[in-house]
Amino acid sequence: MNKKKNMSIPISNRVSQMPKSAIHEMTRLSKEVDDVAFLSWAKPTSGTPEHITKAAIKAIEEGKTGGYSEPAGIYELREEIAKKLKEVNHIEASPEEIIVTVGAIEGLAAAVMAVIDPGDEVIIPTPGYSTHIGQIIMASGKPVCVPTIEEDGFSLDIQKINDAITEKTKAILFSDPNNPTGSVYSNEQLEAVAEIACKNNLIVITDEAYEYFTFDGYKHYSIASFPGMKDRVISAFTFTKTYAMTGWRIGYVHSSKELIPQIKKAHITFAICAPVISQYAVLEAIKSSQECVENFREHYKNARDLMCRRLDRLSHVFTYQTPKGSYLMFPKIKLEAGKDSLAFAKRLLKEARVSTTPGVAFKSESHVRMSFCVPEKIINKAFDRMEEYF
Ligand SMILES: Cc1ncc(COP(=O)(O)O)c(C=O)c1O
Repeated sequence: MNKKKNMSIPISNRVSQMPKSAIHEMTRLSKEVDDVAFLSWAKPTSGTPEHITKAAIKAIEEGKTGGYSEPAGIYELREEIAKKLKEVNHIEASPEEIIVTVGAIEGLAAAVMAVIDPGDEVIIPTPGYSTHIGQIIMASGKPVCVPTIEEDGFSLDIQKINDAITEKTKAILFSDPNNPTGSVYSNEQLEAVAEIACKNNLIVITDEAYEYFTFDGYKHYSIASFPGMKDRVISAFTFTKTYAMTGWRIGYVHSSKELIPQIKKAHITFAICAPVISQYAVLEAIKSSQECVENFREHYKNARDLMCRRLDRLSHVFTYQTPKGSYLMFPKIKLEAGKDSLAFAKRLLKEARVSTTPGVAFKSESHVRMSFCVPEKIINKAFDRMEEYF
């Protein structure tokens, strides 16, 4: 006998609470528009450097890629990552404190699963990356959005973060350099976050996907390198942004010897291990010259400058904070119509054939996100169209 009265398809509360992704909605709609000028993806349009793809082909030819690796990743790769963490991020790391993951995203998902219980609160400075919010919801945690200070380049509002802490607060999660704003948190700001975390016994989860892409002398700092912080920080990094390898799905997390085995339990249930072919590809990437990364950085800086110049010509429509890092920016829409950012972005797509991402995806209306990881001719095309449209 059927004991259930309600015969609707049984979807979990966890998933049904999750808002539909405005990013993917815009991508879907963009496909319906001819010759669209695409500024809506945080995906480099340049290809993966050849020495990396060649290493992957070699690994296939040598028969290394057909089976699983250790769940935490190939040991030699973790040794190289530990060296990089020491040299670049000033984090004293050992291979045992690293898990190679399916992009930064899977590492973050595993980290959130390892530390968040149902009902736990996680502070997210906003505008913030929509996927982080989704990950907290998937763990049945509660995202607590704390606005940043837009006029000060979307810097952290330390007082507001402090005020948002309750007995249920378990962690603070942020991306730095930031998606969607392009902000880069200063040493002083991160010191203040570290102090709050220590005082309130909080975990800090960082997404450092854009660590290499900072401009104008601004520096990226890893909070795990701050005194007393290593044991309470989980840092996620990625090869996908650094080496233009988003499709290869490969990143890593670093944390303490106590936390890593717990995160690894979640990682195994999500992925078993990161794609082995990609692990061999990034082994080459990390061991070789880093000139390609410098070239990408230079390209993004020039593209950012171009986008800012073009935005200056649309000052009746947008104001903006110059991004200090990442390859994204988050202009504010001055027009009344911008209050509903999804409707604004849809109209811009349909009527001007320019694809952007609405601010609502990042918990911030009256904004759109624009990516400058595209060829300069796409930026010009998008802004020529917007100038005509507005
Ligand atoms: C802040 C941030 N973290 C992580 C990711 C995804 O990284 P990965 O490809 O390594 O999963 C993105 C992609 O847009 C991002 O913007």
